[in-house]
Amino acid sequence: MNLKPSIKDCQQRINSVLDKYLPDENKTPSRLHQAMRYAILDAGKRLRPLLVYSCGEVFGANENDLDAAAAAVECIHVYSLIHDDLPAMDDDDLRRGKATCHIQYDEATAILAGDALQTLAFDILINHPLSNSAEVFRLDMLKELSFASGSLGMGGGQMLDLQATNKKLQLEELKTMHKMKTGALIKASISLGLHCSGIDDKTTIESMTNYGELIGLAFQVKDDILDIEGDTEVIGKPTGSDTAANKSTFPALMGLDSAKSYAQQLVSEALQALRPLSYNMERLQQLATYIIERHH
Ligand code: IPE
Ligand code: IPE
Ligand code: MG
Ligand code: MG
Ligand code: MG
Repeated sequence: MNLKPSIKDCQQRINSVLDKYLPDENKTPSRLHQAMRYAILDAGKRLRPLLVYSCGEVFGANENDLDAAAAAVECIHVYSLIHDDLPAMDDDDLRRGKATCHIQYDEATAILAGDALQTLAFDILINHPLSNSAEVFRLDMLKELSFASGSLGMGGGQMLDLQATNKKLQLEELKTMHKMKTGALIKASISLGLHCSGIDDKTTIESMTNYGELIGLAFQVKDDILDIEGDTEVIGKPTGSDTAANKSTFPALMGLDSAKSYAQQLVSEALQALRPLSYNMERLQQLATYIIERHH
């Protein structure tokens, strides 16, 4: 099975779902709607939607239910990217191969575009029509996404990231920060995929939660590695940004080679977490491997 076509299918599908939910760019305030569309449409790996759809495929969800979960989690993710790039945070000017939202528009518009994408995520998850089996889990999905986005998840992780700048964290502190700022939304993508599939079996949930946590952490370790050895043309964002800002990252703490071995180890553990489950896990196995092998 080749992941490439499924990434492409997923990108096309999620773009059309997002396009449907985003207010038209001519609608007032059009500048805000343009900025939201600019930041979220057409680019991005769509890893989180891909996890939602892949999980749904493995556990037998209805694709229309998955659309809501995938779009909601991508809206939160893109809001986090817009704010992450702001001068008050990482102060970056390139994202997804084009000018960051605050460079293309202005800071105030970028802040509002992030805010509006955050609330759009919940709007979609509250209002999207769901099948009966997923409807039962709507509130659970909302709880999952709000927790993963807030001060105990992504938002809190971003706070820790800012506080860790110019400091040397202990390994455990660095893991906590990465699990929160990036792992939480990745883990939530898996949970949402499971909820859409109506899965409530404890063993499956436990194994999949472990898988989600492990690939979530591995994803940020790899992101830190790409900041050092990635190619700006390929990753679509600046390289060397973490080093220049003296960020706390895995390569900064343990060196590049150890960070690579650590990411590898996390993915092996994630693959192991899938083993007890008697479903066809090929796609989720491939996604775990893709997370550390990617150049983008
Ligand atoms: C970048 O995420 C920010 C992190 C949480 C590491 P992605 O690497 O998934 O960015 P896009 O969505 O493909 O642009
Ligand atoms: C960002 O981590 C995590 C988010 C919640 C956006 P980074 O700051 O390393 O992400 P990039 O490298 O700018 O995409
Ligand atoms: Mg950052
Ligand atoms: Mg950043
Ligand atoms: Mg980074």
